[in-house]
Amino acid sequence: MDEIVINGGEILNGRILISGAKNAALPALAAAIMAPGVTALTNIPDVKDVRVMSELLTQLGAEIDRVTDTFRVNASDITSFEAPYNLVRTMRASVLLLGPLLSRLGKARVSLPGGCAIGNRPIDIHLKAFSKMGAEVELRHGMIDIRADKLTGGILVLDFPTVTGTENIMMAAVKADDVTEIHNAAMEPEIVNLADMLNSMGAEIEGAGTDRIVVHPVKSLNACEHRIIPDRIEAGTFAAAAAITAGCIQICNVIPGHLTSLLSKLDQAGVSIAVEKDRILVQGVPGPKAVDIQTAVYPGYPTDLQAQFMALMCLADGESVITETIFENRFMHVAELIRMGADITIRGRAAIVRGVDNLLGSEVMATDLRASASLVLAGLAAQGRTRVLRVYHLDRGYENLVGKMQSMGADIQRIPGRKP
Ligand code: EPU
Repeated sequence: MDEIVINGGEILNGRILISGAKNAALPALAAAIMAPGVTALTNIPDVKDVRVMSELLTQLGAEIDRVTDTFRVNASDITSFEAPYNLVRTMRASVLLLGPLLSRLGKARVSLPGGCAIGNRPIDIHLKAFSKMGAEVELRHGMIDIRADKLTGGILVLDFPTVTGTENIMMAAVKADDVTEIHNAAMEPEIVNLADMLNSMGAEIEGAGTDRIVVHPVKSLNACEHRIIPDRIEAGTFAAAAAITAGCIQICNVIPGHLTSLLSKLDQAGVSIAVEKDRILVQGVPGPKAVDIQTAVYPGYPTDLQAQFMALMCLADGESVITETIFENRFMHVAELIRMGADITIRGRAAIVRGVDNLLGSEVMATDLRASASLVLAGLAAQGRTRVLRVYHLDRGYENLVGKMQSMGADIQRIPGRKP
């Protein structure tokens, strides 16, 4: 298996172009099967999860033509309603096909995703909403089977503002018999990007980006053209890279308003931030101040940038408390950071991070995407050589991370593994 080798200590400087957001591209690709014809999606990132979603769409009967970051999805013939386990087990976001399949075919069979490295992650809220809309939901032999000749709409109050749950319900509701109101909806920018796409397809959705989304039903949808928003988590990871190496990075093709909570925390840590229309200039300082964070739903501090901020706090001046409220098991990077010399204690959902003078290069591995990114960041700042194993986690969600880091002066390489 491939690994990433980093010789720490280089200061990152330069300009970086942010790719399209993985978590906006995945629901957009799923939504492309909701209307016959060819939907063109641009700014799709070249990451593994996108390849898995493309493979799923192909298995459902769609034809995909990809030229660089543009995907043309021909969904004229959707011949299957089943997403098989061999693909679903590699990517939980496969559940995003439930809403589109229900809307297009009135039935969906998607393998039940198992637990994952960052927690149990049930999808009960999605399924409860489908039932409330009149669908028959059955769980059998590890499959979720949903059928609905008609979806009825109604008022749905979510127990938690789940991101993919809100997306699934929005997609299912577009052609329901009546108006659907989603209360306590997720407000992430990816929800707004999906609602914009659905509206371009002919849907009538109001309120995306607030906690109350209203979906007025329409009879049919058409193919559309749609652009994926920039990846705020990739941008945040590069902002953390500038901060942890005391470098200066101009982060381009980004929507700064999507990163307000991170930028405010970096500012409190003493990092200098300058925001322009679609650019952020981040200038790190040696020995940033310790700052507490608590993850929350948008616009709060994103759980997907918790591990990266923790890497920075490992080298801060003082003690910070990092509290994870979204996922129950998202501290898998802590043990690895400790191997690199970090001083961290976990107390329930909080990690107490006492800043140290130096991290030491080590052999580390992580079990999820963002944890792996935090280990790369720690490796950039550590003394000596760090080997990050299990690189496939990073491939799931970062486009050309190594190349982008190299272009800013990092001494980082991907070493191909020996074929078994
Ligand atoms: N939850 C339930 N029941 C449900 C749905 C969610 O209990 O039916 C719980 C989850 O177990 C979790 C919390 O609610 O504790 C939040 O889960 P949510 O459903 O909002 O997460 P998600 O939709 O599965 C998306 C992103 C994640 C990101 C989270 C939180 C996609 C494809 N994935 O997941 O991205 O961490 O929202 O913002 O959009 C990543 O990119 O690394 C990643 C994990």
